[in-house]
Amino acid sequence: MTFRAEDTALSRRQFLVASAASCALAQQAQAQAQPAPSIAGSPEADPPTPRPGELLLVCTVNGKPERLSIDPASSLLTVLRQQLGLASVRHGCTDGTCGSCTTLLAGKRVPACLVPAALCHRQEMTTVEGLSEDGSLTAIQAAFLRHGAADCGFCTPGQVVAAHAILQEPLGPEPSALADALCGQACACDKLPQILQALASVRNQRG
Ligand code: FES
Ligand code: FES
Repeated sequence: MTFRAEDTALSRRQFLVASAASCALAQQAQAQAQPAPSIAGSPEADPPTPRPGELLLVCTVNGKPERLSIDPASSLLTVLRQQLGLASVRHGCTDGTCGSCTTLLAGKRVPACLVPAALCHRQEMTTVEGLSEDGSLTAIQAAFLRHGAADCGFCTPGQVVAAHAILQEPLGPEPSALADALCGQACACDKLPQILQALASVRNQRG
């Protein structure tokens, strides 16, 4: 049996999706087992009525509470782009292999194109717009600029989101650890060497 790099990338992404989905399902089941507290002004206090045939999605995106009526078949990518207008979440391959839609779901990076939006009920999502708390560049964004890690910019939001997650993940000491962690993040402009330099510089700064 031939072992291919793309097999590794795909299985890793499928693992990330499965992990995030399991986490979402477990938390959703737990939340539904207990009546939600009625808090004035909270999403639960005034839920919208989903349109016929649709589902209610209550979630937090980039720190902002959202209440949405969604098509049960929608992916997280579709909801973020089309219903919340977050165009930074790129519509690339839609099969989990390019990484351009990478989003944080409950703090873990996932390909939003593979995550059913319905599994994101009561979850917290972060896109590149939500990474900075004060409007200034994050250390990773500054490093991308310093190292010239973007060209056309199509993949850049997903790369930056992935980089934020990767630097929170346990990484081995071997030199290839960052490159291995970045598998599944493609760049058609061939900027992966500069992206790796940017990640390495932030990792070194943090010790
Ligand atoms: S659009 Fe989601 S991984 Fe390519
Ligand atoms: S900078 Fe163009 S696809 Fe990555």
